[in-house]
Amino acid sequence: MHTLPPTKTAAVLFGISLCVFPVRAQASVNPSQPCLPYSDPVVAANLMDFPTPWTIASILPNDAEAMAAWESIAPGVPNISTKGTPDGNFTDFTPTYPSIDPDCWWTYKTCSTPKLPGLPPDIDSIPESRALGFGFDDGPNCSHDAFYDYLLENNQKASMFYIGSNCMDWPDQCRRGVTDGHHISVHTWSHRYMTALPNENAFAELWYARKVIKLITGYTPMYWRPPFGDIDDRIRYIAFHLNMSAIGWSFDSEDWKVASGQATEQDVENNYNSLIQMALNKTFESRGTIMLFHELNNGTMTNAMNFYTKLKDAFIGNLVPVASAENATHPYQETNLSYPNYAQYIQSHPFSGSDNSSTSGGNGGTGGAIGMPAVSGLVGALAVTAMFLDGLARVIT
Ligand SMILES: *[C@@H]1O[C@H](CO)[C@@H](O)[C@H](O)[C@H]1NC(C)=O
Ligand SMILES: *[C@@H]1O[C@H](CO)[C@@H](O)[C@H](O)[C@H]1NC(C)=O
Ligand SMILES: *[C@@H]1O[C@H](CO)[C@@H](O)[C@H](O)[C@H]1NC(C)=O
Ligand SMILES: *[C@@H]1O[C@H](CO)[C@@H](O)[C@H](O)[C@H]1NC(C)=O
Ligand SMILES: *[C@@H]1O[C@H](CO)[C@@H](O)[C@H](O)[C@H]1NC(C)=O
Ligand SMILES: *[C@@H]1O[C@H](CO)[C@@H](O)[C@H](O)[C@H]1NC(C)=O
Ligand SMILES: *[C@@H]1O[C@H](CO)[C@@H](O)[C@H](O)[C@H]1NC(C)=O
Ligand SMILES: *[C@@H]1O[C@H](CO)[C@@H](O)[C@H](O)[C@H]1NC(C)=O
Ligand SMILES: *[C@@H]1O[C@H](CO)[C@@H](O)[C@H](O)[C@H]1NC(C)=O
Repeated sequence: MHTLPPTKTAAVLFGISLCVFPVRAQASVNPSQPCLPYSDPVVAANLMDFPTPWTIASILPNDAEAMAAWESIAPGVPNISTKGTPDGNFTDFTPTYPSIDPDCWWTYKTCSTPKLPGLPPDIDSIPESRALGFGFDDGPNCSHDAFYDYLLENNQKASMFYIGSNCMDWPDQCRRGVTDGHHISVHTWSHRYMTALPNENAFAELWYARKVIKLITGYTPMYWRPPFGDIDDRIRYIAFHLNMSAIGWSFDSEDWKVASGQATEQDVENNYNSLIQMALNKTFESRGTIMLFHELNNGTMTNAMNFYTKLKDAFIGNLVPVASAENATHPYQETNLSYPNYAQYIQSHPFSGSDNSSTSGGNGGTGGAIGMPAVSGLVGALAVTAMFLDGLARVIT
């Protein structure tokens, strides 16, 4: 039987690129077939301001703003060499890499506390007891209506780690992420192994992904997740000086491996069930955690929907977007959007399930206690899409 690894797995070390992405194209919108490419006026009018989607980003020759930002960061970047290839082949690199892991390279030994002074640690767990930082990589997906509808019906917000090239391809879905009140984070421009990229390309992968999300949604994310978790102190330095905090994970559902045959559906279910069991047996009593999930394809989204209620019960309702877990009430550079901190999120998303742990403890099942019914269905949809405009501020509840 497959068991959940005790900590983050470094299995990606020798991995190959597993995400298969559609070729970019523009055609007409057909709501019944959401994965047909469509034309978006905002994207069409700004194509020249972005690298070719799905190619490794570099600073465009005429982009004075990006160049100025890069020139202000470049002199301080630590002299750490690139590692392996952009599709994650480290076969030639690891034999020469010192086993003391001088660069705090996550892919090597899951290091997440930088060795270079002045950099914050990656966020791979959260302080609150029996809580789960809830999020999904690789969106926006062209066919995610069923999944986002489900989250909306359940009044559940999540961190959504969007790939810039996917936002170019599926801008309506990218907009919906913000409209639904999810916490939009950056998952780079083209989803390559960041430690393989030269400094300027690593910068551009973050810069243009952030820029396209700003173009499409109006907001500039201040959080990101490295594809495959692949980060070291050089990449951390570049992201930090772009005001972007890195979010990792402590457990991998392995949902992303099923499509390529590297994991079975049973493995994924076992991973979900292990996390649920750990939540019930008080593994996360002193500190909450983060598991890696994806909106990559129908299977990963279906898993998320099938396990949602069990997960929520096991964590007594404490499934929170990472921005809320971090009390990041302004997770975007634009300060006119207010996000709930942890306490506010829990209060406005009361738990109405049951605490199934053998000995109940901690902050269990407070939903009924504060007399607020669970919001669902149409009421929920209205509640979560409502914009409470307080002066200039939009408040996500
Ligand atoms: C960076 O490190 C390499 C060795 O890894 C060295 O050859 C090179 O001179 C260093 N560059 C700077 C600017 O210190
Ligand atoms: C990785 O690189 C090594 C050495 O260059 C090569 O022999 C191997 O075939 C590559 N693996 C994959 C999966 O491409
Ligand atoms: C998965 O595909 C089925 C069949 O097309 C569809 O009914 C369902 O809504 C899809 N699920 C998600 C989460 O997109
Ligand atoms: C917040 O500011 C951004 C630009 O800084 C703007 O695009 C957006 O419409 C504003 N949102 C609200 C709700 O005022
Ligand atoms: C980082 O944030 C500071 C303070 O808000 C701002 O002045 C600076 O322009 C930001 N830098 C980048 C590269 O976004
Ligand atoms: C909780 O469950 C996990 C996963 O099954 C297991 O590895 C761990 O030992 C259990 N811990 C306790 C305290 O029972
Ligand atoms: C989105 O999901 C659909 C349906 O599961 C899948 O066919 C498609 O490849 C996914 N698209 C991307 C960009 O991941
Ligand atoms: C928790 O217990 C309730 C009532 O006994 C049950 O309906 C539910 O399925 C259980 N949830 C989990 C996650 O086991
Ligand atoms: C968020 O605020 C709560 C107090 O409401 C605190 O216990 C927790 O440590 C804070 N989280 C972070 C990441 O600072």
